Amino acid sequence: MPRSNDAFDQFDDDEQIDAPIAHVGRQRKRAPRKRWTEFSEGEQLLDNFTMTYRPSLYEGGWLKASLRDLFTQQYITDVLALVKGGKEASVYRCAAHPRLGMEWLAVKVYRPRMFRNLRNDKMYREGRAILTSDGRPVKPTDDRILRAVGKKTDFGVQVEHTSWLMYEFTTLQRLHEAGASVPAPVATGENSILMEYIGDASRAAPTLSGTAIPEDDAPRLFADVMRNIELMLQLGIIHGDLSGHNILYWEGEITLIDFPQVTDSYANRNADFILRRDITRVCEYFARFGVAADPARLMHDLWEEYVAPQRGDHLPDL
Ligand SMILES: Nc1ncnc2c1ncn2[C@@H]1O[C@H](COP(=O)(O)OP(=O)(O)OP(=O)(O)O)[C@@H](O)[C@H]1O
Ligand SMILES: [Mg+2]
Repeated sequence: MPRSNDAFDQFDDDEQIDAPIAHVGRQRKRAPRKRWTEFSEGEQLLDNFTMTYRPSLYEGGWLKASLRDLFTQQYITDVLALVKGGKEASVYRCAAHPRLGMEWLAVKVYRPRMFRNLRNDKMYREGRAILTSDGRPVKPTDDRILRAVGKKTDFGVQVEHTSWLMYEFTTLQRLHEAGASVPAPVATGENSILMEYIGDASRAAPTLSGTAIPEDDAPRLFADVMRNIELMLQLGIIHGDLSGHNILYWEGEITLIDFPQVTDSYANRNADFILRRDITRVCEYFARFGVAADPARLMHDLWEEYVAPQRGDHLPDL
């Protein structure tokens, strides 16, 4: 697909985004009328749109477009550093607005490219309702939206992007409320999710796969990951991409991240495959640190306890 077809790619440089801000900076000879003052107050906030982090020209354009609302709604006051730039999303450390009582926040910004492929998401989407920007499922009677999605019109594609993002955000909310080890969710912005930042000023928490855990602590950490998998099953969900790459390790504790592909354990026909894969990958990671767990046994026990009764879909005895 040519780049120009992607609405997001129109922000190819900073100039378009900055244009209204530059205008506000001009000297005025007379006091502005009331209705213009309202505008300039709004834009004054945009003037404070500071970025200590220096993005590349192209990155700067979409970053500002994506974070604008989070600045103006007083969630963040600065973008301090890139935590990780990925193919599908980039994560940045931001300064939290003082009203929030936290020093930093992590913002995950989906890249324009991500929305072109919606990576093999069909397998995960099965059994999931489409979520609107306020996190509510689209009613099965809402023909207009469902037809647009089915026909992949521009509007339909936008609906799917929003749904993908809202699954990540609402899952964080549900899990956080239920006491899972996940970053506290804070807000959503245009193509972005704002959440608790795990790490400090010098570095963000590494992922489990990027660090070595102390062997004598491995059984406790493994048990905590399994507690989280169990908690998700109690809520009827499966992470769907769980491995050492999506678990952070900081000050002796684990935090699960990266939830857009979260899967419905009751309604998705691939739930068995997806859960088994998550459990197996976790066991493989911890086996390197001496934890002798049997993924087939864990899968069997969890499935039979939490999933099979609802689905009437039992696994063969081991
Ligand atoms: N709340 C957070 N606090 C600190 N670092 C984070 C946080 N969330 C994400 N990260 C960092 O950003 C990286 C990417 O986040 P995430 O896994 O959610 O996105 P992704 O789309 O899977 O990207 P990738 O393909 O690079 O893994 C993580 O591996 C982690 O290093
Ligand atoms: Mg990830």
